[in-house]
Amino acid sequence: MAKSTITYVCTECGGESLRWAGQCPHCHAWNTLQEFQVKKAKREANTRPLEPARALPLNEIAPEDAPRQRLEWGELNRVLGGGIVPGSLVLIGGEPGVGKSTLLMHAAGQVARSGKVLYVSGEESGQQVRMRAERLDSLHPGILLLPENDLDAICEAIRGESPALAIVDSIQTVSDAGFEGSAGSVTQVRESAARLMRLAKEIGVPIFLVGHVTKDGSIAGPRVLEHIVDTVLYLEGDRRQELRILRVTKNRFGSAEEIGVFAMGEAGLEEVADPSAAILATAAPVSPGTVIVAVLEGTRPLLVEVQSLVNKNENAMVRRIANGVDVNRLHMILAVLEKRLHGFKFGNSDVFVSVAGGIRITEPAADLGLALSIVSNVVNRPMPDGLIVIGELGLTGEVRRVGQLERRLHEAARHGLTRALIPAGARAGRPSGLDVIEVRTVAEAVSAAFPSPIKSGAFIEEAGISVS
Ligand code: TYD
Ligand code: MG
Repeated sequence: MAKSTITYVCTECGGESLRWAGQCPHCHAWNTLQEFQVKKAKREANTRPLEPARALPLNEIAPEDAPRQRLEWGELNRVLGGGIVPGSLVLIGGEPGVGKSTLLMHAAGQVARSGKVLYVSGEESGQQVRMRAERLDSLHPGILLLPENDLDAICEAIRGESPALAIVDSIQTVSDAGFEGSAGSVTQVRESAARLMRLAKEIGVPIFLVGHVTKDGSIAGPRVLEHIVDTVLYLEGDRRQELRILRVTKNRFGSAEEIGVFAMGEAGLEEVADPSAAILATAAPVSPGTVIVAVLEGTRPLLVEVQSLVNKNENAMVRRIANGVDVNRLHMILAVLEKRLHGFKFGNSDVFVSVAGGIRITEPAADLGLALSIVSNVVNRPMPDGLIVIGELGLTGEVRRVGQLERRLHEAARHGLTRALIPAGARAGRPSGLDVIEVRTVAEAVSAAFPSPIKSGAFIEEAGISVS
């Protein structure tokens, strides 16, 4: 008998604890700790490799045995680091209904033109999968469907078919009869993924796993698998909107900062080669509180619209709601505005900010834009037409330089924007057609964005940091 020890794993964040508790000590979620059996397998005689491993000089190791399989979609190749790596295990996480199965069926259709694809579906029947494939124009004889939940059967099929790509949709429906617990438990999800990983490496077949992000603590989310797999991709986006972002959070074979952009439509997903244009097309007409910023996603600058709404609220607890922006960043920006601009007090106001198109801003280069959108909404004046705002905000109200400014400016010019507020002293080429204004502080930026006197009084001090 194999010996086993027990630890507790959080189904939300994957953190481990030795003791059970009502609240996860790592991510502070409640009721998410699940028992996890660590089996100590007896070393069996036949598992020992015949030849012991030998250390080799690094330069004698072959660079990459097999070339990557490139898909038709450049957006998918980009997030994978240049295509599918043989023998890799890729996790695709996302909320139910966001489009993971759709994305993978498109990928299956593209791979099937040159090789066999094994699609293991534990959630949907063969008819359902076929109907989807038909709708996506991905119905191809090279795609084999296996409706199965048992890990042994799945591994056997992958080994037997040796496909160019295997897809397991989803890992939470797979269970290994050798372990306790039902499908979806931390033990099952982890052990199944670990076995699929070994199989992928052994026979060189790439395997894609679907992992649902759930709010329900009874099913282990994709985060408990992140350290097992080679690559982690998350499909994000509002189900009611078109845009879907495929974000890399880990990649042993490429950059972990890239995103791929897709749009969901009648015939499934389409890749969006020019996301800035798609985002700007859905942007609201210029109005008080909207600003266009340029954020860098991996190697690509993206033009994104941020919106703010500041509303007096004398009665209840004030709210700070941030969609697509870190709420702590919002708190910092509000504090800087209060300190550096006269007459700005947010103590009795609700503040809402949101990023259009379901994009999540993760870099501080959007700070200044966010600050100006808040000011614009408070003073009820729109920003000048065709303006892009770029800059990080420091705690003293100084506008700090950001990386890759030139690429951001070029992206703005390419999409017909005419003016840019940027950090002072940045050495970057100026694309033609863009009127560039350098600012040192948030107060300067406000004076530059709203040049004539503002009706509620001269509460903006002259350029430069003023000590109020
Ligand atoms: P699905 O891929 O089943 O999501 P997941 O596997 O992540 O749970 O996608 C489901 C949603 O996508 C569903 O709400 C309908 C929508 N959809 C379209 O809008 N067009 C399409 O062609 C398809 C196949 C799905
Ligand atoms: Mg699905």
